Amino acid sequence: MSIQSYWQSADEDAEMQDEHGFIWEAMLETIDIDLAGRHVLDAGCNRGGFLRLLAARSGIAAGYGYDPAAGAIADARRLAGELPLTFEVADTVPAGWEGFEAAFSHEVLYLIHDLPGTPPRSTMRSPRARRTTR
Ligand SMILES: C[S@@+](CC[C@H](N)C(=O)[O-])C[C@H]1O[C@@H](n2cnc3c(N)ncnc32)[C@H](O)[C@@H]1O
Repeated sequence: MSIQSYWQSADEDAEMQDEHGFIWEAMLETIDIDLAGRHVLDAGCNRGGFLRLLAARSGIAAGYGYDPAAGAIADARRLAGELPLTFEVADTVPAGWEGFEAAFSHEVLYLIHDLPGTPPRSTMRSPRARRTTR
């Protein structure tokens, strides 16, 4: 997979993070485990906003986020400051990352084309192709 520095662009990724705050809060309302003291994974973390929310609000012991967008990961590291958060540029769980007690992934699975049962990219048609093919 090749992804540029940002998922969309620096500005759009920052905007997306602001827009997703209320969804992350709603997501947290649906879980019934106490995250305090837990080690938590966020797959496709972009700029790390969800893990920062968990560190501030839920008192996680440590958060780990990965994303192929290198610029977003650089922002995530900078924005994390002294919080117990680790970020890596990757498109799958980095080697050695294990033992998580909770894992989240918001708006990412639809982007992963090598999941079992997912058609290979070459057989997927774009909306434009669908419109013009009869
Ligand atoms: C729609 S954004 C969602 C970001 C974040 N989860 C949120 O809630 O704001 C999708 C993110 O998935 C990332 N992504 C794309 N392919 C990925 C993969 N194979 N593994 C992990 N993340 C991926 C993109 O770089 C982007 O940051």
